[in-house]
Amino acid sequence: MSQSFSIQENFNLSDYNTMGIAAKARYFVSVKSVEELKNLLADTRFYNTPKFIISGGSNVLFVSDYDGLVIHVDIKGISIEHEDEIQVKLNAGAGENWHQLVLYCVEKGWGGIENLSLIPGSVGAAPIQNIGAYGVELEEVFDSLEAVELETGEVKSFSKDECRFGYRDSVFKNELKGRFVIVNVRLKLQKSPTLNTSYRALSEKLEEEGIGDPSIKDISQAVIEIRQSKLPDPTEIGNTGSFFKNPVITKNQFQDLKSAYPEIPSYPDGEKVKVPAAWLIDQCGWKGKRFGDAGVHKMQALVIVNYGKATGKEIWNLAQKIQVSVKDRFGVLLTPEVNIVS
Ligand code: EPU
Repeated sequence: MSQSFSIQENFNLSDYNTMGIAAKARYFVSVKSVEELKNLLADTRFYNTPKFIISGGSNVLFVSDYDGLVIHVDIKGISIEHEDEIQVKLNAGAGENWHQLVLYCVEKGWGGIENLSLIPGSVGAAPIQNIGAYGVELEEVFDSLEAVELETGEVKSFSKDECRFGYRDSVFKNELKGRFVIVNVRLKLQKSPTLNTSYRALSEKLEEEGIGDPSIKDISQAVIEIRQSKLPDPTEIGNTGSFFKNPVITKNQFQDLKSAYPEIPSYPDGEKVKVPAAWLIDQCGWKGKRFGDAGVHKMQALVIVNYGKATGKEIWNLAQKIQVSVKDRFGVLLTPEVNIVS
């Protein structure tokens, strides 16, 4: 069979995950097109080999070496599928860098993803966890996507409904986990968008800068500045953004917490209440703590960092200690937002 991919063995993954964990993949292949990916999946040598898909590597923690095939999706390309006076339907390859796509759209004046500026990772990973920040979630601009089924090598389309988006969640983290490789994402962006400045940190920043009637670019720039002031740059200090999800609890459970801790921040979430994991972790005294090269970021308690040579196990041990202390003190279980591979 013709193959244009090259197989590497015992491959060090440290440059392929933003936490900078030096785990090894038994086999590693980078694919640049859907054709290459299909050829790889049709290769009989890998029929029974476990497979793990990676692209930006910004939401994964390798706790041990991976005894299987890591497929790095490096499929590029941005193209306009449809454009009129009101909106633009855009195709982006899964291997495109998310932030570069945001900047491209901001430059063109197409609104919808400016609040999602500077989120590390690739376009293909964005729908898996329905990325969100500063009041906007991907699903609001999402149109559809194409993904290749690992078992059959067939390309399938998924509509927005079929992706079953939730808070940092989709069908690809649940029923279809590990079964598809996202290769193309289609977004719908607006030429005269309704801008979202509802998130407190964002509206405060714009006010501070004296910007009363912000443009798409102003919002993107403000988000970039907020993120840079609070979140570590993964090219400087290894991290995967928020390590845990913000827990969603019942109103009764929240009332009990509120009586004990009147200052607890919260956000309504349908019939339930969302509380910031960062606050819970901070209250337990973890912010800025460091154990060898594993630590909790000094500006944001929800971000676990690798100062250099921490192993995946060390990071995971720290995360589990945080889970236990938050559970003991508040009775709330934190669940990782990051994909744990062990
Ligand atoms: N807080 C603390 N201590 C801290 C940090 C925050 O007590 O060290 C409290 C503050 O009360 C603050 C609240 O927690 O008002 C919320 O903090 P922040 O606005 O920084 O947001 P977050 O809930 O910690 C979420 C997302 C981030 C996203 C920001 C902004 C999740 C799991 N995280 O963080 O997403 O950038 O909101 O929208 O939903 C990511 O998913 O990787 C990510 C970075």
